[in-house]
Amino acid sequence: MEVKTPTDSKTIVTDLVLPSETNPINNLFGGELLARMDRAASIAARRHSRRIVVTASVNHVAFNKAVPLGSVVTVEAKVSRTFKTSMEIVIDVWIEDRESGRCLKANEAIYTFVAVDEMGNPVPVPKVKPETDLEKERYEAALRRKQLSLVLAKKMNPEDATELKALFFKNSK
Ligand SMILES: CC(C)(COP(=O)(O)OP(=O)(O)OC[C@H]1O[C@@H](n2cnc3c(N)ncnc32)[C@H](O)[C@@H]1OP(=O)(O)O)[C@@H](O)C(=O)NCCC(=O)NCCS
Repeated sequence: MEVKTPTDSKTIVTDLVLPSETNPINNLFGGELLARMDRAASIAARRHSRRIVVTASVNHVAFNKAVPLGSVVTVEAKVSRTFKTSMEIVIDVWIEDRESGRCLKANEAIYTFVAVDEMGNPVPVPKVKPETDLEKERYEAALRRKQLSLVLAKKMNPEDATELKALFFKNSK
């Protein structure tokens, strides 16, 4: 099966923050940002696999900075690593400064998508070849994140989570 780079799946979605999407102190609702990230991630997963994709888990979300009403928000999603049928998608969220036009990192998230057939059964996806230092770093850490997600979902025995154990105990692999 063809090997793809994270750039092959890169998806950029830019949109405004409207009044109906904000909380009482005029910042973007967390749920609205989650939905924007989910949509961008699903397009990235689809571009990588060219299959139907479903969200399997949200592995990590950090709402580091509030996003004020009227902001121009850019959500950038890329497939960082794949396994047999699942894909890890890393999402970076940027706010564009109105005067300078510079983009400031506001938030980030990591989602897992699974490629499925018309019956909803998981199907294999292409592997990822990371290119930049950041892509290589994210690729390396993805197995650890997958194991953590599976352990928390009670789909993996903690004893089998070799990458997680190696984080805490030397010589445990
Ligand atoms: C995601 C889904 C297809 C997984 O199906 P499943 O029967 O658990 O299939 P498998 O056990 O073969 O898992 C498929 C892959 O998903 C991965 N996976 C399943 N649950 C996971 C989790 N919580 N975290 C990370 N990966 C997970 C498995 O490790 C496997 O990956 P791999 O093939 O790359 O090794 C199924 O649970 C599903 O359809 N869920 C609903 C999806 C959906 O509707 N999302 C929108 C929510 S509204």
